Amino acid sequence: MKILVVGSGGREHALVWKIAQSPRVKKIYCAPGNGGTAGLAEPVPIQSDDIDGLLDFARKQKIGLTIIGPEGPLTLGIVDRFENAGLPVFGPRKNAAILEGSKVFTKEFLRRHGIPTADYMSFTDPVLAVQYIRKKGAPIVVKADGLASGKGVIVAENVEEAVSSVYMIMEQKKFGSAGEAVVVEEYLAGEEASFMAFTDGKTVIPMVSSQDHKQVHDGDRGPNTGGMGAYTPAPVIQDRTGEIMETVMIPTVRGMAEEGRPYKGVLYAGLMVTRRGLKVLEFNVRFGDPEAQPILFRLKTDLIDIIEAILQDRLSGVRIEWKDGASVCVVMASEGYPGAYEKRKIVSGLDQIPGSEDLFVFHAGTRWVGDKLITSGGRVLGVTASGMNLASALNKAYDAVGRIAFKGKHFRTDIGQKGLRRQNY
Ligand code: AMP
Ligand code: GLY
Repeated sequence: MKILVVGSGGREHALVWKIAQSPRVKKIYCAPGNGGTAGLAEPVPIQSDDIDGLLDFARKQKIGLTIIGPEGPLTLGIVDRFENAGLPVFGPRKNAAILEGSKVFTKEFLRRHGIPTADYMSFTDPVLAVQYIRKKGAPIVVKADGLASGKGVIVAENVEEAVSSVYMIMEQKKFGSAGEAVVVEEYLAGEEASFMAFTDGKTVIPMVSSQDHKQVHDGDRGPNTGGMGAYTPAPVIQDRTGEIMETVMIPTVRGMAEEGRPYKGVLYAGLMVTRRGLKVLEFNVRFGDPEAQPILFRLKTDLIDIIEAILQDRLSGVRIEWKDGASVCVVMASEGYPGAYEKRKIVSGLDQIPGSEDLFVFHAGTRWVGDKLITSGGRVLGVTASGMNLASALNKAYDAVGRIAFKGKHFRTDIGQKGLRRQNY
């Protein structure tokens, strides 16, 4: 079978890496891909939101399965377009991808179905939003309705910051049409975790638990990023799979089906573990990045078999197996990310790190210029390792991080520390 993976991040490199191990796969393409996917998948110079271009390519190349990595094309309806053209494609349709595409929709959906989440109000009028903020006081959270590359959420420590966020989103239109509405939400104190599941719209099968590290600096300081590292399992929710399935994942998939929005693909719940129970912060309609890297490292089952079962509505007959132990991914980023950063720094040291079953460097913002690998994005590499336990996985990953160099390399030194602390108390 010929496979097309759409996207260019660390997640897509991990997908390509996993799929390349399937005996059923003859050839992989990645559009547009990065310096790492290039070794396993033929690069296709089409951007991930160029749906016409991707459709044309898949038709001409007779692609047997297209796997969509990022949320952008999903919310634009790439799955509907491929399905209408009779091409097999993995991901939710547009009317289901709204779970990530609109925070207003999602908050109302959660309320309708009694799924636990922070209290909120949504507004299309900034004056009313500001009145509500002044009434509620701080800390308080302001969220742009639509997609904003992870930057549309402001956790405001005081009322003035929340008020100026409303103006920034709704009047200065910092995130364009994503800011036509805002959600103003109760601040939740607690520890975050990521929970993903595969679903064909009826059966929901959980993946192993994980935890991301969103802020750019150690100790969860600094601005939020796409994610600076992740590990699995996450002790903070590891023993609560049944509860998360019963209170969040299954009701969500069932609720979407009831509302005429059947959900197929990977469903990702961002959770806050609070003293008053688990609450949904957000949904993503795809694998997390970087969570996909350590999670796919632990997946034993052939991913193509899982995806095919989902497309054919027979996920209930599939057994999904995971490796024991732990895996971790440490992201190496460009200095300045998530703000402005320089590109084109030469990456060295990767040849010292032979890929093995328990250590692999996934690329994100890299590309080849001749025989030189250079940086081309904010998140550059995701050094991923597994071990008998979290501590041994971390040792392996950080050892490799130390051997890789590029000018201005930045990484967090405390990935997985929350997990270690919970294991040790
Ligand atoms: P979201 O995209 O909605 O997950 O928000 C991005 C990040 O903002 C989350 O990962 C949390 O770190 C933080 N956040 C979102 N909502 C809240 C909330 N109600 N209380 C505290 N932090 C939040
Ligand atoms: N790591 C969080 C995300 O993929 O959105």
